[in-house]
Amino acid sequence: MRLVFVGPPGAGKGTQAQVIVGKYGIPQISTGDMLRAKKAKNELPAEVASIMAAGGLVPDAYVVSLIEERTKQADAAKGFLLDGFPRTVPQAEALNAMLAKSSQKLDTVLALEVPKDLLVERAVLRRTDKRTGQIYHMKYKPPPPDAVLEHRADDKEEVVRKRLDTYEAMTSELLPWYEKAGLLKRVNGVGTVEEVTARVLQALEAK
Ligand code: AP5
Repeated sequence: MRLVFVGPPGAGKGTQAQVIVGKYGIPQISTGDMLRAKKAKNELPAEVASIMAAGGLVPDAYVVSLIEERTKQADAAKGFLLDGFPRTVPQAEALNAMLAKSSQKLDTVLALEVPKDLLVERAVLRRTDKRTGQIYHMKYKPPPPDAVLEHRADDKEEVVRKRLDTYEAMTSELLPWYEKAGLLKRVNGVGTVEEVTARVLQALEAK
């Protein structure tokens, strides 16, 4: 199964992806996580780090090369869930070309929809356990006392708002592009994590 999760910052892509990959036995491939891992190892070019810190989009060629390399790994042979990639039509075209080389194609592009006023609160109060990668929320999914919490640098309110604007500009082209290709499924991302998971599974399993 080859899936793409699209959605604004804080929509719950990462949260839902962590559940869905367990169910389908495929890896979650998040460009955001890959970029942050590179930054932590001081391997991210300074100009890319500044774009992320300001809430903008990293150049297409850079993220495409990360995905090209990652999807060649053995655990992705039978499928994968791309979380946060593609974000632009050129990225989507590059992904299609990459898949076509090995006669593969995407099964579904799932867009998680959440109103803007909920997104800021979700992102600003997010914390991630450094050791496990588990995503928590200080109000909706409090972490256990032994979690080693990390607050993302781009989860400050003013950067979250900029990321939301960037997302709106990007989806005005990307979502219609996938809709035209007959791949897009829209899922309501409001409700408990479990309620949203049930909708995601229903959408993925519907013909
Ligand atoms: P990235 O890491 O992809 O961030 P994002 O797309 O902004 O998405 P988030 O990780 O903020 O949100 P999410 O939807 O995963 O929400 P989550 O599940 O954590 O990208 C970061 C940056 O990298 C970008 O700004 C860009 O600079 C760069 N980048 C990455 N990919 C790129 C690309 N392809 N091209 C160019 N640049 C790229 O949930 C959020 C919070 O809400 C959590 O606390 C969670 O516990 C809580 N929550 C989740 N679901 C619920 C629920 N149902 N009810 C209540 N709370 C919930």
